[in-house]
Amino acid sequence: MKVLMYGLGSVGSTMAKMLLERGASIVGAVIASESKHGKDVGELLGIEPLGVTATTDAQEALARDPDLVVMSIASYMDDMIDPVRACLKAGCDVISLSEELMHSWRTSPEETAEIGALAKEHGARMLCTGHQDGFWVSLPAVLMGTCFTIDEVRGSAAWNVDDFGAELARDQQVGASREEFDAWAATAQRPPTFGRTSLHALAAMAGLDVEESTTTTEPAVAEHDLHCAALGEDISAGTIIGFTDIDVVTTKQGVTLRLEMTGKVYAEGETDSNTWEVLGQAPVKIHSEGLQTHWTTCSTLVNRIPQLLEAEPGYRTIDELPQLRFRAGS
Ligand SMILES: NC(=O)c1ccc[n+]([C@@H]2O[C@H](COP(=O)([O-])OP(=O)(O)OC[C@H]3O[C@@H](n4cnc5c(N)ncnc54)[C@H](OP(=O)(O)O)[C@@H]3O)[C@@H](O)[C@H]2O)c1
Repeated sequence: MKVLMYGLGSVGSTMAKMLLERGASIVGAVIASESKHGKDVGELLGIEPLGVTATTDAQEALARDPDLVVMSIASYMDDMIDPVRACLKAGCDVISLSEELMHSWRTSPEETAEIGALAKEHGARMLCTGHQDGFWVSLPAVLMGTCFTIDEVRGSAAWNVDDFGAELARDQQVGASREEFDAWAATAQRPPTFGRTSLHALAAMAGLDVEESTTTTEPAVAEHDLHCAALGEDISAGTIIGFTDIDVVTTKQGVTLRLEMTGKVYAEGETDSNTWEVLGQAPVKIHSEGLQTHWTTCSTLVNRIPQLLEAEPGYRTIDELPQLRFRAGS
C-alpha cells in the first residue's frame, strides 16, 4: 500500500514508522514548515533515507498517487476541511486522528455531509479514530453490551499537560489565578470538547438518539507547589494547573452519558487513567491506570486501516465498523 503522511509531527512520525514496519510504502509527507520542505522523509523520521520528500505542497504530494492518506494535523473541522477536501477529490482514502471528525454529525453537520458526499462522489472513504476510539467509545460500548438496563454511563479520564508543549499548557490555563480562570471560563469561545464528540460516537455505537449535549468546566487547583515542565515554570499551591471538562449527553431512550476529562499538570506519582461505570440494574466498572496514550493513539489508527479499506465509500464513523481489534503484521 502506498501511504502519504499528511502531518509528520509527534504522532505522525510514530505512525509512519509503524506503517513501514507493517510493510507499507511511504510516498511522501505533507508538512507546514518551509524548513522541512524538500527533506527526505526518512531523515525527518530519524531513520535511513526513504528516497521520498516532505513537501508543503499538498497537490504535488497527492500527484504521487497514494492509496491512503494518514492525516494528523489538527483536531477541529475548521482546520481539517480544506486538506480533507483535497485528498478526497484526488480519490484517496483518508484516515485521521481529528477528534471532532470522529463523529462530527452534530457539531459540524453541513461540513460532515459535504465530506460524505465528496467521498462518495470520488469513491473514497474517510474515517477518524485515535485514543478515544478505544478508551472512550469502544471500551464503554462493550461494557454497556454486558448490561440489560442502563440509567447512566459515567466515564472519567486524565492526561498530563506536561506530556505536551507550552501552547497546550497555556490553553489549559496553567499558572492562572482562580479569578483569571473564572473570567476566561465565562467568556471563552471554545470548540466542541473531545468528550462531546466521543459521547456522540458512543451513543451511535449503542443505538441511542442524542437529545441534549452540555459541557461544564471546573478548574484543577495545585494542592502543593509543583513544577510545570511544559512551561518551564514553578507553580505555587492555589494556582490553576488545568481543568476538567464535564460533558453530559442525554438520550431519547433515557440513558445519560457522562465523561469527565481532566487535563492538568500531574503531581509526582500521578499517571494517565481511565474509568468507566455503567449504572443500572447490575452496575459494572472498569479502571485502567498508567496508560501510554501516545502509543494507544497510533496503534489504534494502524489497526483500523484494514476495516476502513473494506468499508463503503463515504464519511465513515467507528460505530459502522467491526469491533476494534489487534492486527498482527505478516
Ligand atoms: N485522536 C487522538 O487520540 C489524538 C492523539 C494525539 C494527537 N491527535 C491529533 O493529531 C494532531 C497532531 O498531533 P501531534 O501531537 O502530532 O502535533 P504536532 O507534533 O504539532 O504535529 C503536527 C504536524 O502537522 C503538520 N501540519 C500542521 N498544519 C498543517 C497543514 N495545514 N498542512 C500540512 N501540515 C500541517 C505540522 O507540520 P510541521 O512539522 O511543518 O510544523 C506537523 O508535522 C492533533 O491536532 C490531533 O488532531 C489525536
